[in-house]
Amino acid sequence: MLPYEALEARARERLPQVVFDYFAGGSGEESTLADNAAAWARLRLRPRILRDVSSVDTSTELLGSPLSSPILVAPTAFHSLAHPDAELATAQGTRDAGSLLVLSSRSSRRLEDVASRAGPWWFQVYVFRDRSLTRDLVQRARASGARALVLTADTPYVGRKRRTQRGDVGLPLSDEDFLANLAGLTRRELAEQAPDVTFEDISRLHADSGLPVLVKGVLRADDAREALRHGAAGLIVSNHGGRQLDGALATADALPEVVEAAEGRVPVLVDGGVRSGRDVLRALALGARAVLLGRPVLWALATGGADGVRELLEGLREDTAHALALAGLPRLSSVGPDVLAPPR
Ligand code: FNR
Repeated sequence: MLPYEALEARARERLPQVVFDYFAGGSGEESTLADNAAAWARLRLRPRILRDVSSVDTSTELLGSPLSSPILVAPTAFHSLAHPDAELATAQGTRDAGSLLVLSSRSSRRLEDVASRAGPWWFQVYVFRDRSLTRDLVQRARASGARALVLTADTPYVGRKRRTQRGDVGLPLSDEDFLANLAGLTRRELAEQAPDVTFEDISRLHADSGLPVLVKGVLRADDAREALRHGAAGLIVSNHGGRQLDGALATADALPEVVEAAEGRVPVLVDGGVRSGRDVLRALALGARAVLLGRPVLWALATGGADGVRELLEGLREDTAHALALAGLPRLSSVGPDVLAPPR
């Protein structure tokens, strides 16, 4: 597996500077962005010895979908910026690797077209000011085979990025790519996510679509409990890859309290700075059922299209199997909190 830094460097050579900055950047001082990766590295592992690890099984299952590993593709916007085949290539590569795609509301290809190339997939929802738009979108997603919705709950407004101060203005995006799922709207309307989204929207989305709803952006136990009270089928610990409130805590630091609050009732997932099989192991040891990758997938798509995405996911699956083997853990169910040392 290409180390993350090398993959990012290759993508940087390929992409226009403005696109690289849009993908790579975080909000504010980018302190949360940096801390996401640093927080995983702070967690020291306690390997077990003399276990038979001649074969390591990374396969798992999530809300009824069988998966080759606990590594999923996070929703990220506008894949046409990375590759001409855009989300169609991402969907194909993800499917070929036996993984699951979470498709962004802001995809640059129509969700129906992406669905036709995808294996199991979930649809990420931004609630728009006009709730009927959102309802239409989630009903289309269901009709196209989405197995769940992911409500992104940390974005009442888009966080201000320091590298690309004018947001998505200036990106090489045609109107068609910008509005793939919402033809007929102006850019301005699309940008208007509802700042009055509340926990009530969880049950509304479920009622409108009939699909399970996971909530993405959970960083606190009280919010986790509230989401469960409103019927959330899963929780995703995320700070949007350090792109929303800068200074927010790293996801590795937030994960334990959310896992505790979930009491095993629903799966807890995590994203942000997951870059190696050791990071996947650390997340599982803290109680996550799976991780999601944001930027690594964008770099893989930019450098290798569908094959690049497949190779990334397969490479990280193998790296996870290797980390499990060296830690004396033959399968995912062997991973527990004892694999981590107490903080220094
Ligand atoms: C994102 N993310 C995101 N999340 C979401 O729910 N809907 C979206 O459309 C997007 N768009 C988006 C664009 C770009 C360029 C990035 C980098 C991120 C957040 C994403 O789902 C995920 O939470 C983070 O990317 C995970 O962190 P890493 O793996 O990028 O460190």
